[in-house]
Amino acid sequence: MTVVQAVLEHPITAAVMARVPMPLRLARPVLTRDNAKENRQDAWQRLRTETEAVRYRAVRGVVEAYGADGFVLDVGCSQGILQEGLRYARYLGVDSFPGAIERARVKEDDRTRFELAEATTYRPDLPPDVVVLNEVVYYLPDPLGTIVHYARRLAPGGVVVVSVYSRAWACRRLLRRLARELEEVHRVEVSSGHLAWSVGAYRPR
Ligand SMILES: C[S@@+](CC[C@H](N)C(=O)[O-])C[C@H]1O[C@@H](n2cnc3c(N)ncnc32)[C@H](O)[C@@H]1O
Repeated sequence: MTVVQAVLEHPITAAVMARVPMPLRLARPVLTRDNAKENRQDAWQRLRTETEAVRYRAVRGVVEAYGADGFVLDVGCSQGILQEGLRYARYLGVDSFPGAIERARVKEDDRTRFELAEATTYRPDLPPDVVVLNEVVYYLPDPLGTIVHYARRLAPGGVVVVSVYSRAWACRRLLRRLARELEEVHRVEVSSGHLAWSVGAYRPR
């Protein structure tokens, strides 16, 4: 884990982030630099801990509710931890970090693919039943715009599943804006210790 992540996950920082109105765009440069460092260190292995497993179970549950028999596009998939144990007919994971995609590719089979791609501009070959962004939007220059970009490309009845840390002021604000822009069809809150996440499913109105 990087120093930034350790600080972010500390209970005192979590309490401050919950109250201080700091927009995501101000935090993004620090988070993006840290993201690059985490990628270089292969630090995403920390997402395999029991604390994080609670969130992965919740995200898999919402994704499967809409995509167990369909096409799931996992944006910012890293090495595809979410894919492990997920039910789907077709899965495509995309990430802009080559090392993550290289690691993920050992899991490829006739239903499962990983591609190197930029999340903000990627256009899937077929309309997905589910597009999932799990702990990714913090790193995007226009989180809401990117979510809407995917919402416009869904198969009929499809959803975009967004999971974010839900106690920070910036994330609560993003979730309010998201619920105004798209129809929120499903939302669960999960917590583990002092950390909590929102897992929501959205579709165009
Ligand atoms: C916290 S990890 C996400 C983990 C993953 N979604 C999962 O469920 O295990 C963030 C990932 O987002 C990717 N990412 C960040 N910005 C991106 C962008 N603009 N395009 C594609 N991937 C991006 C990073 O390379 C990193 O792998």
